[in-house]
Amino acid sequence: MSGIPPGPAGRAAVLCGVGGHLPERVVSNAELSARLETTDEWITTRTGIRNRRAAAPGEATSDLAVEAGRRALRAAGGEPADTVLVATVTPDRRCPATAPLVAARLGLTGAAAFDVSAVCTGFLYGLATAAGLIAAGVSERTLLIGADVYSSIVDPNDRTNAILFGDGAGAVVLRAGSADEPGAVGHFDLGSDGGAEEAILIAAGGSRSPVTEHTPRADRHFAMRGKEVYRHAVTRMTASAQATLAAAGWRPDDVDHLVAHQANLRILHSVADGLGVGRERCARHLTDVGNTGAASIPLALDDAHASGALTPGARVLLTGFGGGLTWGSCALRWPDLSPATGRRRAGGKDRR
Ligand code: UT7
Repeated sequence: MSGIPPGPAGRAAVLCGVGGHLPERVVSNAELSARLETTDEWITTRTGIRNRRAAAPGEATSDLAVEAGRRALRAAGGEPADTVLVATVTPDRRCPATAPLVAARLGLTGAAAFDVSAVCTGFLYGLATAAGLIAAGVSERTLLIGADVYSSIVDPNDRTNAILFGDGAGAVVLRAGSADEPGAVGHFDLGSDGGAEEAILIAAGGSRSPVTEHTPRADRHFAMRGKEVYRHAVTRMTASAQATLAAAGWRPDDVDHLVAHQANLRILHSVADGLGVGRERCARHLTDVGNTGAASIPLALDDAHASGALTPGARVLLTGFGGGLTWGSCALRWPDLSPATGRRRAGGKDRR
């Protein structure tokens, strides 16, 4: 599926704030190597990841989402949002959605609030949803948060997945504006293939197979066919990003920043090579935080913005891939935002 046309008189969603939040605890490759059959060298060369963050016991997705959302709202000038979307596959509870709770904790009771479930593509699906709601005049200002606590679904003894995933939340604020101003989000490509559902899944715990005392341990945890997913990730993100480039009328050389879902550095490089975008223009936030699921793209944006890498007017191409299978891409010109969003960074320094 491609393209969300601008609404009446070119009305469109415009990105006006970004923020992020990571839990305090850093889990290094050395720590994982001490308790799993793996090594820093294997993890670094196969994935590019050196550290990831882990939520504290009792720290839930909404706790991270509220902090990220608060920072994005503040960065956007502090005006309240009328809509709150939370992209996640690790909601606080199976029922209800996490977004209404996040809205209430941000002082936004009364706002429309719901979760978006598209695994690691959740942020891009949420962005397209927010863009549609704003273009249609249903929302004036939407807070979109990508947040996941993968440590709650990954088996800590599963060396393949425990090394990849980290916890975190990233957020953006979108306001009603016009399609021709910097920050306008408008060129999208979204897709899915449910025929490959089993490549990434938690087998038990849904209506198909509720958890009982007989449910095997493996079926209660996140499972991924790594090699198969790797191939799909490269192919789908490359094709989706190409479709978005074509819709936006951009050539690969026009792309200043490629912000792809932060799953594996080798995947990022393959996508960049496939698109003809130089690897040096590729965000690589995963080195510090691993794969943070739906949080990965907004956290990478927040990191690039905070470091000054994203300058006003820069052409940014977002692309993501995840379970479902799902994929999606979006092109935007970076808006002129306030200088730093104040995410707590590695080493515990708060930039605000
Ligand atoms: O967010 C959704 C998107 N997710 C992704 O895109 C992830 C995609 N997949 C990947 O990133 C990679 O497939 C992995 C990082 C998961 C695995 O890397 P790989 O290069 O595809 O390794 P592999 O699965 O082919 O495994 C190679 C070997 C195997 O041993 P044998 O069979 O060759 O003896 C694995 O058992 O590496 C072994 N292995 C490990 N060794 C040390 C698997 N995990 C580990 C580990 N440490 N943590």
